[in-house]
Amino acid sequence: MFLASWIWGVAVILCCVSWFLLGRRRRRQGEPPLENGFLPYLGCALQFGANPLEFLKEKQKKHGHIFTCHVAGKYIHFLTDPFSYHALMRQGKHLDWKKFHFATSAKAFGHGSIDPAEGNTTENFHQTFIRTLQGNALDALVEAMMENLQYVMLQSRAPKLQSNTWVTEGLYTFCCQVMFESGFLTLFGKEFHSNNDKNLSSKQETERAHILNALENFKEFDKIFPALVAGLPIHLFKSAHSAREKLGEALLHKNLLKRDNLSELVTLRMFLNDTLSTFDDMEKAKTHVAVLWASQANTIPATFWTLFYLLKSPEAMKAATKEVQNVLESAEESISLDGKHISLNRKQLDNMPILDSIIKEAMRLSSASMTFRVAKEDFTLHLENDFYNIRKDDIVALYPQLLHFDPEIYADPLTFQYDRFLNEKGEEKTDFYRSGRKLKHYYMPFGTGIAKCPGRLFAVHEIKQFLALILSYFEIELVDSNVKCPSLDQSRAGLGILQPSNDVDFRCAARELFDYGQNKTITKGKLQLISLPVLSYFKRLTFSFGTRHSYRIMRKCNGTAFTDS
Ligand code: HEM
Repeated sequence: MFLASWIWGVAVILCCVSWFLLGRRRRRQGEPPLENGFLPYLGCALQFGANPLEFLKEKQKKHGHIFTCHVAGKYIHFLTDPFSYHALMRQGKHLDWKKFHFATSAKAFGHGSIDPAEGNTTENFHQTFIRTLQGNALDALVEAMMENLQYVMLQSRAPKLQSNTWVTEGLYTFCCQVMFESGFLTLFGKEFHSNNDKNLSSKQETERAHILNALENFKEFDKIFPALVAGLPIHLFKSAHSAREKLGEALLHKNLLKRDNLSELVTLRMFLNDTLSTFDDMEKAKTHVAVLWASQANTIPATFWTLFYLLKSPEAMKAATKEVQNVLESAEESISLDGKHISLNRKQLDNMPILDSIIKEAMRLSSASMTFRVAKEDFTLHLENDFYNIRKDDIVALYPQLLHFDPEIYADPLTFQYDRFLNEKGEEKTDFYRSGRKLKHYYMPFGTGIAKCPGRLFAVHEIKQFLALILSYFEIELVDSNVKCPSLDQSRAGLGILQPSNDVDFRCAARELFDYGQNKTITKGKLQLISLPVLSYFKRLTFSFGTRHSYRIMRKCNGTAFTDS
């Protein structure tokens, strides 16, 4: 036993030494400074993985604005000067953005290669995404999401709400359930039921159980996603593998065809799978699992951080609530818990600069995406004032969290400032500076250049809709208003928005129950058609005259404001 370990020990040391002497890459003239790390194959992977931001800051201090790191068998050239980002995008002809994405997607989701060069499909995936997530297609997505969010918040979760008391739960759990269920219904539609079906509500319950089951599978799979991207085979993770297969089963074309209101994205992808690819049924389904993952994995934590920071900042909460009220008033929308849903279209949602700024600021603080490009050949990378030789198959990467946390660009960068992205006129602020120069790239949670996230507009609309509805329908607060901000879970660094390392308790009550919970005169039905100005007038009257008397005054002066249901 002792002899065996001794032999193994010597073998490992010999491997390290021979790698150190023979296998290590040597920096050639004209190449960026090189960090090989101390471990064969892994190189700097462990230090990088433990805290990428700190690691890169340290190397930036040592080497300057460009350096190369050996990470898990790859050589990555990190560009850390935001003024060179543009130069990188301009030299796209030497760089491939698809190879890495295609290989990662096939490995992680288990479908065949989606690279048209490999012959399984001729679909241009990126074009499909742009066509079905932006432009006119976005209007339909926004409309469906508005409906589904309200269905989920008010109907699907109704048993929790009807207890007339505050409900306490984890904020991340809540955001996860609401966004997953609503987003799933928006992309993949609802199981077909006739409205006059006698068992409608029990069928809806069953459908909800299916979606929540899909959420459990999604979470199980998502947990090991960083390991899959790092190259580990899914067979090492038995329960995640089985979760991915179950998600695939649920999204088989034969099951999707039983659903109503499929989004244009999913309908078109089904058609293209059937006409342009040679994928078998399960592989087709797995391309839908990839879309499901892309649509949820970042949106859920982004929604959490936005709501968390909003709840932590009374100033932000006040400004956001006012903006939502103003938009609802000018859209002549009213709040009711009795089935008439609020409807805000894309244009109305676009007119909410305060919510935009809050969402941007929350994502600035929580995003750790990474932009990769693979060198197609040996070439010279020209930056602003200098140039570097890059070898074929090396990776050139940007890590925008360096930019997001740069105190020269964002004063006091670790603090949430809800109006950071607003100018003096209260409109979107776009001028950010470094060393006295205006930056073109200052905010990049969605990546940049040709591969920029095609779902970014939908994502921001979804979060805005979620916030607008929460602020309209619910009274909401953190259980402990002094709770510390959870730290960022670094295991997903490089993949997008980081999750919180722990959940935070919050409580909420339906707003009507909160405002009028003790009031026997005004019941739910009677509030149905009250518009926001009427509501605030009523609140003021209540304060001065008491509820019953105010109700009488209101009936006299604005009879049409109430229904008699
Ligand atoms: C806060 C939410 C989101 C964030 C932060 C985010 C971020 C990103 C990033 C960083 C990329 C990679 C870009 C690159 O490689 O340079 C990406 C790709 C992608 N995202 Fe998003 N995303 C979000 C939401 C969404 C949503 C809601 C959808 C769809 C409904 C979506 C669909 C996609 C797709 C399909 C790709 C792959 C594009 C391609 O390879 O052609 N994303 N996203």
